[in-house]
Amino acid sequence: MKHFILVAILVAILTVAVGTGLSAIGLMPEQASLQSVFIDQLFQKHVWTISFLFALIIGFMLYSIVVFRRKEDEQGDHFEGNTPLEIVWTIIPLITVLYFAYLGSQALAEVRRADPNATNITAVGQQWSWRFEYTDYGFISDELRLPVNRQSLIMTTSTDVIHSFWVPEFRVKQDALPGDGMERELRITPTKVGRYKVRCAELCGTQHAYMLADVIVMEPEAFDQWVQEQMQGPSGTPVERGAEWYQQFGCAACHSIDGTPRVGPSWKGLFGEEVTLADGSTVIADEAYLFESIRDPQAKIVQGFETVLMPPTGQSMTDEQVQDVIEFIKSLSEQESD
Ligand code: CUA
Repeated sequence: MKHFILVAILVAILTVAVGTGLSAIGLMPEQASLQSVFIDQLFQKHVWTISFLFALIIGFMLYSIVVFRRKEDEQGDHFEGNTPLEIVWTIIPLITVLYFAYLGSQALAEVRRADPNATNITAVGQQWSWRFEYTDYGFISDELRLPVNRQSLIMTTSTDVIHSFWVPEFRVKQDALPGDGMERELRITPTKVGRYKVRCAELCGTQHAYMLADVIVMEPEAFDQWVQEQMQGPSGTPVERGAEWYQQFGCAACHSIDGTPRVGPSWKGLFGEEVTLADGSTVIADEAYLFESIRDPQAKIVQGFETVLMPPTGQSMTDEQVQDVIEFIKSLSEQESD
């Protein structure tokens, strides 16, 4: 009995030390959504449970190593098992796991709790950028702006491979799957005004680690004002609009405008140049070629760019938007000859 009391004290001390230590090192980033509250509560219970389990195993082991160390020429006892002990160490973990399953289902229900007035946004992942379609208002953006303390319903989808939408400060995460009818939903109620980052949490190719987008949580009034501005669309010349689409549709992820090679050909000096295709033939980069390449990227593949094919981004652009982008590409050649 003396041994059990001593081990119990050792386990209690170890549990407090490990649990306090794990809680103090800040495993989680800032808590910035309503959903993260439920997830963090559950996580905290897990931390204390694993701290206790760790202490229980290590405490008994350390105590046994020190106190029951075999002495010179001592014969060990042989045990045949202990039925009551085995029943106890089966029943207690079973109850613990069932209890956590109950807590987990409760937390899941809270995280998925729907607000009928949620702002509808579609997050589209493509190699390797995000764009956000504000379906209630009919505009798109390359940054995700959300009103604070209002729920946003984010539908995730992809134009090519599987991506995963993840903002660590909001805790929740959802795969973005390609294909019709494969949209998945995610509900986020931001609770802190600030700037965050969407990360891609699914290995999706060479630029996966750089597939980031800005998240800006705003006061509702500022958000509504931003929505009004976006609904008017970008003003200015076709070249200026084209530069805007270049960012918003994520062209910038693969095509530089300063001649730097990326996974796609640079747009600098492209217009009017002779382009060598993968099959060795050549074509002049005129308006018709650019239009086709944006709408149907696989029709003509440029030599040296066969390994990473362009996603069908251009299919979600209007004719006017494609035309603006072509004007923008043209302007990148004119600067050079000036
Ligand atoms: Cu998209 Cu990783």
